Amino acid sequence: VDAQLLQTDPLTLSAWILTQQHRSPNARGRLTVLLNAIGVGCKFVASAVRRAGLAGMMGMAGSENVQGEDQKKLDVIANEVFKNSLRRSGQCCILITEEEDEPIFIEKEHRGIYIVVFDPLDGSSNIDCGVSVGTIFGIYKAKDPQAELAGNSTLDDVLRPGTEMVAAGYCMYGSMAYMMITTGNGVAGFTLDPTLGEFVITHPKVQVPPRGTIYSINEGNAANWDPATTKYVENCKSGKYNNGKPYSLRYVGSMVADVHRTLLYGGIFMYPADKKNPNGKLRVLYECFPMAFLVEQAGGKATTGTARTMEMVPTSIHGRAPIYLGSKEEVEEIERLKKECG
Ligand code: AHG
Ligand code: MN
Ligand code: MN
Ligand code: MN
Repeated sequence: VDAQLLQTDPLTLSAWILTQQHRSPNARGRLTVLLNAIGVGCKFVASAVRRAGLAGMMGMAGSENVQGEDQKKLDVIANEVFKNSLRRSGQCCILITEEEDEPIFIEKEHRGIYIVVFDPLDGSSNIDCGVSVGTIFGIYKAKDPQAELAGNSTLDDVLRPGTEMVAAGYCMYGSMAYMMITTGNGVAGFTLDPTLGEFVITHPKVQVPPRGTIYSINEGNAANWDPATTKYVENCKSGKYNNGKPYSLRYVGSMVADVHRTLLYGGIFMYPADKKNPNGKLRVLYECFPMAFLVEQAGGKATTGTARTMEMVPTSIHGRAPIYLGSKEEVEEIERLKKECG
């Protein structure tokens, strides 16, 4: 097709979401409204991240979150943006955000039937030096929509396995703003066209290569790793998996950036448990589950090392878990080594 013609039919995020909605006959467009509200939040944060250096939005907010982390100004701004956009969508009953200790129960007049878990700004330690950061989200549908609408919210609508999520995605604020999203029918990738103010489809069907030659882990924690992780990384370096040619190490320190590269190039991203963090560092609800959902939908795998990430049942809203995700064959090798070395 003539390249010029493509400009007359850009498949925007909103149009793509509608194509997904038509897959479920009795859909009433509520998830469509919700996903568009998330898209608006991402556009706002993309703009704030780009202006941060110029608008005095770098640096610390002077507050701490439940994780014991010093909040950056953009952590707080992004959190407010998504809370407002989600509330205004009228489609949510409960919000879980990394930046707030307690669940947010949406007031009656704005209440809907979806639970949204989100990390408003992921990789915020990188924000002040201009390295890519992102937003991560996951969506559950209330088990009993009428009860939720009546205002009887309970945490058992939240502490559910990743397999019960109806949608998940992230937006990475890098050289461009990239949105990856799934509603359970594969992964689509979008790029924000700043002249349009629209996310336009650029990756219609994302597929993780079955194996890769990139491993991604914070080697600074090597002294604390378990034997299987140590063995796997040793094998990556020795060339054991690649006819004698060592893998490359790539580690950005923003989960969104490391996962985005893994989705597109293949390889493996790891944040194992270690002696310091017995459950690893990454939070199950709004980091592990959405990324595991995306990777699986793109043909990859995600594991805690001994169990499929998506089948975990969280015990608390900020609970953490070890995670290994990416190319199917790389993750299966980790699982084999876990059985072998324990
Ligand atoms: P957040 O900025 O949302 O708190 O998440 C930071 C996470 C994740 O983005 C990244 O993979 C990980 O922290 C990096 O941790 P280390 O600095 O310990 O490697
Ligand atoms: Mn944080
Ligand atoms: Mn994060
Ligand atoms: Mn965060």
